[in-house]
Amino acid sequence: MEKPTGEAAKELIQAQSFIWNHLLGVVGSMSLKCAVQLGIPDAINRHGGPITLPELADALSVHPAKTLHLRRLMRTLAHSGFFEKQTREADGEETYRLATASKYLLKDQATGISPFLLTVLDPVLIAPWHSLGDWLRRDETTPFHVAHGESYWELMAHRPDVKEQFNEAMACDARLVIEVVVNENGHVFKGLRSLVDIGGNTGTTAKAIAKAFPHVRCTTFDLPHVIESATRDASIDYVGGDMFERVPSADAVMLKWILHDWGDEDCVKILKRCKEAIPKVGGKVILIDMVVNPNSPSQESTESQYFFDMLMMVLCEGREREEHEWKKIFKDAGFTNYKITPALGLRSIIELYH
Ligand SMILES: C[S@@+](CC[C@H](N)C(=O)[O-])C[C@H]1O[C@@H](n2cnc3c(N)ncnc32)[C@H](O)[C@@H]1O
Repeated sequence: MEKPTGEAAKELIQAQSFIWNHLLGVVGSMSLKCAVQLGIPDAINRHGGPITLPELADALSVHPAKTLHLRRLMRTLAHSGFFEKQTREADGEETYRLATASKYLLKDQATGISPFLLTVLDPVLIAPWHSLGDWLRRDETTPFHVAHGESYWELMAHRPDVKEQFNEAMACDARLVIEVVVNENGHVFKGLRSLVDIGGNTGTTAKAIAKAFPHVRCTTFDLPHVIESATRDASIDYVGGDMFERVPSADAVMLKWILHDWGDEDCVKILKRCKEAIPKVGGKVILIDMVVNPNSPSQESTESQYFFDMLMMVLCEGREREEHEWKKIFKDAGFTNYKITPALGLRSIIELYH
């Protein structure tokens, strides 16, 4: 092979940096996971101000021989924007404080997202990525099936530890998103007397809607084993069942982060059941899901939406969809009209009418 020189050598070096940055993306994810597992954001928060490395090591019970290793972790995470690194004027000591992103990784915070992070980076969800290439050559439903021999939902039915972690991840997302929906987009619930949250998990979303709009009777509907594990709250009703068979009737049916778990045909089936459950006049289906915009001015948003799409491909039979793909599903399910409100960052509120 000819030895690269001049422009070819420059190109080779640039390509290597580009590839390294991508392949080492996993280092960023795992460093963040380590920070959450150790409780670094919480330790800094408890300290109440900029914390030095020895103080942080002490608060985290890091082994005395590992303080410098902790420094390397903190340097990496500070560089990624999770902590603010400063030099204390008085003694030149390095200190760290929370940055905006790490405030959302605090454990006891209502809008914290660390349970979601720990779920996505759990070995149960990481293992299927190793089967992606193999799966593309095989007639198996998902890489998750290749890795575990069953679907994620089936696995959770007999792995209480995985189910508990998943439920907590869903609850943390629901707490964060529903705050924005009820506070900033309350018009969505105008005129409703009842609402059923399909795939509503342990009821976080339904409880938040019932609290914000006490005149709306809310129900959370999910698989029986999920409903059985939900802690009861008198403000909402709990119904176990299968959304492919029948869903409880209400003025509105909500599907938050449900349809992206399923293929197009299944989405049509689910939406048909939802259509049967709402009144012809004044009834609606409220979806909270992504509408992928390949032409978004934010390259970061498009990349995150594509990453979520890959996650759906690996874990279940679902996908993230562009508007024209949604439109076809809505039409096939018999809906005549829809409205998209892109109010939730990467996700949107989509209202469907008879
Ligand atoms: C991605 S989670 C979304 C949870 C919740 N809506 C949220 O966003 O926080 C999908 C939910 O669908 C539920 N689910 C899966 N299959 C179902 C079925 N056939 N009938 C009812 N619920 C189902 C799961 O148990 C899970 O709680």
